[in-house]
Amino acid sequence: MSETVRAAAPSPERVLIFDTTLRDGEQCPGATMTFEEKLAVAEMLDGMGVDIIEAGFPIASNGDFEAVSEIARRSRNAVIAGLARAIPADIARAGEAVRVAKRGRIHTFVSTSPIHLAHQMRKTEDEVLEIILRTVAQARDLIDDVEWSAMDATRTPIDYLCRCVEAAIRAGATTINLPDTVGYATPDEYRAMFRAVRERVPNADKAIFSVHCHNDLGLAIANSLAGVEGGARQIECTINGIGERAGNAALEEAVMAIRTRADVLPYATGIDTTQLVRASKLVAGATHFPVQYNKAIVGRNAFAHESGIHQDGMLKNQSTYEIMTPESVGVHKTSLVMGKHSGRAAFRSKLDEMGYGLSDNQFQDAFERFKALADRKKHVYDEDIEALVDENLATAHDRIRLVSLTVIAGTRGPQRATMRLDIDGRVVTEEADGNGPVDAVLNAIKTLVPHEASLELYDVHAVTGGTDAQAEVSVRLKQDDRIVTARGTDPDTLVASAKAYLAALNKLLAGASRRLHAQHAAAE
Ligand code: KIV
Ligand code: ZN
Repeated sequence: MSETVRAAAPSPERVLIFDTTLRDGEQCPGATMTFEEKLAVAEMLDGMGVDIIEAGFPIASNGDFEAVSEIARRSRNAVIAGLARAIPADIARAGEAVRVAKRGRIHTFVSTSPIHLAHQMRKTEDEVLEIILRTVAQARDLIDDVEWSAMDATRTPIDYLCRCVEAAIRAGATTINLPDTVGYATPDEYRAMFRAVRERVPNADKAIFSVHCHNDLGLAIANSLAGVEGGARQIECTINGIGERAGNAALEEAVMAIRTRADVLPYATGIDTTQLVRASKLVAGATHFPVQYNKAIVGRNAFAHESGIHQDGMLKNQSTYEIMTPESVGVHKTSLVMGKHSGRAAFRSKLDEMGYGLSDNQFQDAFERFKALADRKKHVYDEDIEALVDENLATAHDRIRLVSLTVIAGTRGPQRATMRLDIDGRVVTEEADGNGPVDAVLNAIKTLVPHEASLELYDVHAVTGGTDAQAEVSVRLKQDDRIVTARGTDPDTLVASAKAYLAALNKLLAGASRRLHAQHAAAE
């Protein structure tokens, strides 16, 4: 062996990133995304190097099916997965949705823990084994790439878990996922479970093992990395860690832990980490789930150094208090503050720098909004531009639009709002009083667009500092079993409130019209 070959470090083993933002993430209450938002998120994930995108649960609704198949149709590099319970109709529907992808995957799952078998499924161990053999084989008849998950694996006795895994691989599963469904495991336990299964299952070498961790005890990332040490080579995660209850392992944290601690984690992912912050903002914007300020990697404060000692150290050498650079995750120090004298070229270059690839029409709309904002606000910061472009993309297909709003407010009530809306191309005007200006604005909307939805959340914060900062309002509406959240931004808090409320109503309408199409299709 030559000297150079002996001295070369072993190349790190590749760990696949399986993103389930559009399935496990979207499944949590209030995180509903519109069809267009799902497409935008999928495009971002595909572009940043995610290996597998779980695009949805096709049997859940026609909207889910349409989104998964459109994402499958548009996919460039990523494998597109559709989730299915261990039910023949689910598997057939998932197969149909991902069939058009360059590379599609059916992801089917069944519970294996005694608690789930006794109380949820009311089935014996042998019955579940038989279901695994039958449903995995059905999926494998439809497609070559089949993932099988043992739901609640971490509360399943190891002997039975091994029998289930062996059966799934025998029936044709190519990926075996062992989720910590209820976020109960500790890292040592989770690592040991993977080691035991891989050692004891005779055909274990025929499949890739996968981790899927929920964050109920705040251990999702630690458990995911422990599972990889135990032999898993796929991490299931979501952008910003959104997901059921306390959420899933956060993609950005898993990827940056592997990259930053290559000395003890000799693995590699295919993710372009400079896209992480952009992806985080896109998902936060689409789901309207704000990212906590101190969130690892993508939080607003993740690279802020406030204390004197830290600032002093940073000025002397960045490595004193920074274990990774802001640039490596896509945070750019604001180089160019925009204002009313900034022209098209400067705006275009700012959008490029921020990672937006807009079509000509989208650029034109964004530029007009930017000019209107710059007329009202001396300095337009990156955060303002982000809010403006994201809102532009999110509202492109809205049926109800705000035309104008005038509010009389102050100590001498009642407060009164005069609102003009464009509803499906027809302009209508209304006046309404309220107990305060926000109440008056919402009453005007309710008169113009009668609806049953109840307001579950109303939240205001400033996009940047300064008294001329834009207000960002988040609104959550609930109608029957649907919960939608939406955002609106404007230098005027009342206009932002109206925009946010209308955006949420538009989401409810978009869902309703997709269900309507589904009913027509079913009746035909
Ligand atoms: O948490 C879980 O067990 C899941 C499965 C459907 C994979 O999300
Ligand atoms: Zn899950």
